[in-house]
Order: sequence, then C-alpha cells, then structure tokens
Amino acid sequence: MKAIDYKKYPLPRLRHHANPVLYFPLRQQKGKKLRYPPLIESLNWKDVFVNGESPKYLDVGCGLGKFMIEMAVLNPSVNILGFEVRSGAVDWINRVIAGEKIPNAKALWYSAVNCFPFISDESVEKIFYFFPDPWIKKRHNKRRAFSLELLDELHRVLKPSGTLYIMTDVAKLDEHQREVLAQHSGFSYSYVSTNDWDLHVRTNQEEFCIRKNIPFIRMICVKSGKKIALNLP
Ligand SMILES: C[S@@+](CC[C@H](N)C(=O)[O-])C[C@H]1O[C@@H](n2cnc3c(N)ncnc32)[C@H](O)[C@@H]1O
Repeated sequence: MKAIDYKKYPLPRLRHHANPVLYFPLRQQKGKKLRYPPLIESLNWKDVFVNGESPKYLDVGCGLGKFMIEMAVLNPSVNILGFEVRSGAVDWINRVIAGEKIPNAKALWYSAVNCFPFISDESVEKIFYFFPDPWIKKRHNKRRAFSLELLDELHRVLKPSGTLYIMTDVAKLDEHQREVLAQHSGFSYSYVSTNDWDLHVRTNQEEFCIRKNIPFIRMICVKSGKKIALNLP
C-alpha cells in the first residue's frame, strides 16, 4: 500500500472535543443558535464519490480519518464515508483525500446521532465505530451516541450479515454498548482477539492505545435478525 505522507498537510488547531450539544440530535436542540452540522435527507452519490456509487463502508466518528483514508487506499473498489462533528477535521481529511487523489473516500460534517436517511436500507457491508463517544461516566448514558435508535439505524443500513466493528478503551462504555446490543437483539456479537480482527489498518486512537499500553476491547457484531420495531419517543 502506498504510504501517505500526512506531514504534507499541516493540521489546523483542533479542539479535542466539539461543543457537547453536537452529540445530541438536532431535534433536541431548543431553539439555540449554534453551529450544528446540517441535517442531510438525501445525497447524490455522484457528488460524493468519483464512481457515483453509494458507500459500502461507514466510519462513524472518523476523527482525523487515518483509518478511513488507508482503508480506501487498501480497498480501491469500495467507497468509504466518514462522519465527524468537528468541521476542521472534516476539512483536513478531505484536503488529504484530494491531495492524494483518492477517489473512494469522503468525510462528511455530520452528527451521527441524527441517523442516516440518505443511506438506503441494506446497502452497507461494514460499519466502523471506533472510540467515538466522549462520555465515559455511567451517568452520561443518556448522552451517548450509541443508543438503541442509532443501533437500529446501523442495523437498517447494513446488508444481511453485514458487520459492525467496535473498539473502545472505556470499560463503562463497553458495558453500555453490550447492554444496548442485548436490548436490540438484531446482532450476534463477541469480543475478538488481535488474531481474529480482520482489518489491516489501525485508527489513530488504536495506535495511541497500543503505544501507551492502554487496554481496549475489539468487538465484531454481525447483523443477524430482522429490524425490530422500536417504540421511540
Ligand atoms: C476519540 S476520537 C476517535 C477517532 C477515530 N475513530 C479513531 O479511532 O482514531 C472520537 C471522534 O468521534 C467524533 N464523534 C463523536 N460523536 C460523534 C457523532 N455523534 N457524530 C460524528 N462524530 C462524532 C469526535 O468528534 C471525535 O473526533
């Protein structure tokens, strides 16, 4: 794989976390004026990817995008779409993608908590959900992006037997994610060891954890059951 020289693309100053309100769905914002990523109802894939096809891979909370960029280079026939709430990171990723002439990757300024009405049912093969939630305390459960609603949306867009990959270094978050997965019941899921992890690219945060000896879990969730009827408010 062609190595990317990220130093060619100076990083702007980025905040570690976005404004916390961006982690809540737009419908819950009560008339406050804020710089919130626009809701997207539909997308013309010709405006997003050179081949005009829809994405087969999604990277939810793609951060600085190393993983999605390198996955795109490794899998040139697959379009990968990243979602990120920090607009500076999105602009930077898309500068790297343009500079390296990578036709099959794009980052979108979008908060994943608003779901993905612009993505068709059963069109996605793999979804990556890596270290995205900044809320690490149990009392923050309600603020977490990983909700029954989001999981059901991931289930909707995944093809039958499509895969959701999860990594986290926060034990409470792992516990919360397993509770939501158990409640949903549309996935079979298990922890996997490094040997059984079939992705050949690492994320920025994964590399950080490995470098600093921070333990983290990897989980593979395979879509199994039918979409469940959720009684959401
Ligand atoms: C700790 S970083 C991890 C980035 C990358 N996945 C990795 O493993 O290196 C988490 C990223 O998820 C983003 N994020 C958190 N909640 C999000 C949401 N609701 N929608 C989109 N991005 C989100 C944050 O802005 C941050 O850049």
